[in-house]
Amino acid sequence: MNKPKRYTITAALPYTNGPIHIGHLAGVYVPADIYARYLRLTGNDVAFICGSDEHGVPITIKAKKEGVSPQNIVDKYHAIIKKSFENFGISFDNYSRTSAKIHHETASEFFKTLYDKGEFIEEITEQLYDEAANQFLADRFVTGTCPKCGNEEAYGDQCEKCGSSLNATDLINPKSAITGNVPTLKETKHWYLPLDKHESFLKEWILNGHKKDWKPNVYGQVKSWIDDGLRPRAVTRDLDWGISVPVEGAEGKVLYVWFDAPIGYISSTKEWAERVGKDWKPYWKSEDTKLVHFIGKDNIVFHCIIFPAMLKAEGSYILPDNVPANEFLNLEGNKLSTSKNWAVWLPDYLEDFPNQQDVLRYALTANAPEAKDNDFTWKDFQARNNNELVAIFGNFINRVVVLTNKYYQGFVPAPNEFSKIDNETLAAVKAFPELISSSIERYRFREASQELMNLARLGNKYLADEEPWKVIKVDEARTQTIMFVALQIASALATLSEPFLPFTSAKLNSILNSTSSAVETSWGDIATKETLLPSGHQIGEAELLFSKIEDDAIQKQLDKLIASKKANEAESKVAEPQKETITYEDFSKLDIRVGTILEAEKMPKANKLLVLKVDTGIDIRTIVSGIAESFTPEEVIGKKVTVLVNLAPRTLRGVESQGMILMTETAEGKLVFVNPDDKSVTNGLQIC
Ligand code: MF3
Ligand code: ZN
Repeated sequence: MNKPKRYTITAALPYTNGPIHIGHLAGVYVPADIYARYLRLTGNDVAFICGSDEHGVPITIKAKKEGVSPQNIVDKYHAIIKKSFENFGISFDNYSRTSAKIHHETASEFFKTLYDKGEFIEEITEQLYDEAANQFLADRFVTGTCPKCGNEEAYGDQCEKCGSSLNATDLINPKSAITGNVPTLKETKHWYLPLDKHESFLKEWILNGHKKDWKPNVYGQVKSWIDDGLRPRAVTRDLDWGISVPVEGAEGKVLYVWFDAPIGYISSTKEWAERVGKDWKPYWKSEDTKLVHFIGKDNIVFHCIIFPAMLKAEGSYILPDNVPANEFLNLEGNKLSTSKNWAVWLPDYLEDFPNQQDVLRYALTANAPEAKDNDFTWKDFQARNNNELVAIFGNFINRVVVLTNKYYQGFVPAPNEFSKIDNETLAAVKAFPELISSSIERYRFREASQELMNLARLGNKYLADEEPWKVIKVDEARTQTIMFVALQIASALATLSEPFLPFTSAKLNSILNSTSSAVETSWGDIATKETLLPSGHQIGEAELLFSKIEDDAIQKQLDKLIASKKANEAESKVAEPQKETITYEDFSKLDIRVGTILEAEKMPKANKLLVLKVDTGIDIRTIVSGIAESFTPEEVIGKKVTVLVNLAPRTLRGVESQGMILMTETAEGKLVFVNPDDKSVTNGLQIC
């Protein structure tokens, strides 16, 4: 398209059934924010839109589990999520929610328009029904085997393993997620959007149109969907949480969450426009508006096929110019998981790393899952901070500011004759805005963040090569020129870092005292203006932009993850049911005594066995114990143990064992002596 007049940028509306974590930030919100900030800085008219996605089955299931109302759940997480976005500088022009009145009205009206235009198919079909719960089962209310890939934990709307979009009745061996019962079939009426009817338009628009510049991961998924053939898709549900279907004969039915949620972009835009006194319509209806949806890869089909088909069917809306979906971020080698608590939650991060939002933003951008799934590791996070933000960016700025204060009381010196290096350096700086722009406009935010760091690197190297701290002793005139050049680089960094590191950029602008209009620098100024910080301008005192992250801070995060892993293992280990009841007489037959291990050695040619000499208080006897994989002989000598002394002797590998040492096996499969105060000895472990 020609240069757009305005931009409507949307970021996927997060579900309000939990806080958000680094995966959300890396996949959707940080890239969207970089894009929006960049466009504003370059003088564009931008509406950056988001809000909470408050409908859908998982929210009702969570509410049931916690014994509260769905409204209660969404109120809680809407507040938490909204705060996290503010804390991380995600600069939405509006953050709304789908329980808002304006959204209910907008979504109802949208449905009504399509209904009146005859864009839906009305059909009575048999749907899965849970007799005990008195409820129809769709989407996440039902699990079963995926007919495409055989995954036994597929949901009624989607298989997360192979990514197929499903209807609940497609599942093999369906099971109610509410009661665990096998559902029956019951007739119900629903409205369907006939995607098949829109197939030729979608083909034309995406496959033959200009969408070849979409990211390969997005284009590929969409193409395979279309090639597979599109089917009508139900846009209503039998559910009591959501937006009522606004037509007659639809009592007890609501709009499917994926029908109403993307309309949330429109209602949030309306809410914004009303608040700031603008007209919302051009942002959604004018051909010179560029609409861009930022999402994660699990949302591709909804934003590239279903929502465009809805917009097209309505008839008065524009379609997205691009849908730069990211792949997934993993954490320390494993899939991020809310239920397994395998995540870095944003509120927790801020507690452990206060005021270090930019560090996370940078680490996530530099390692963003743009083309393939990627791994977040705390070591990489530490390295990005210590080796790049601290050692390059922070170090350069600190030297420039400290030396300017030391040599010139904070005044930018007048330059003398520029050397070849100076001219080359100043010319190189002028090229950066275009380099970074070009990466951002192609949605390559990793690359863009590395270009930014290259500018800091250029500054750092310039100072290291020119050594003003040495030159000052012999050539004051030359020192002035060096410091002048370095200050220009610092000023360019303050502006160009804004989309990526907004908090740092603000701090740097305040250090450089460059927020007043006389010295304010725009993105475009860097390439065109002769001077960014004029001589005679006074800057402020030095302040550290970044600080080193020590190993123990990183270890603390790794320990948290290890704790999650242990908790999961303990939970997934099914406890043996209690054995048959015995009488006291039965129990009193056991002669259990305290003893001490005096000697221990490995049983020759046996991996598991140790031969022990144990002082039982009544005698010293030999016990063969299967603990050699958990303990070395040295580790057990001198240990106090509990011994069953009247167990019938048994000969193992030719050695008679005269009793048994009581042990238990932890969740990780390590044998330990019975000591309930030991942290790894958890409830329910059996004595063996
Ligand atoms: N709530 C959805 C998710 O987290 C995204 C909704 S995007 C919208 O996967 F388009 F529907 F708003
Ligand atoms: Zn599957």
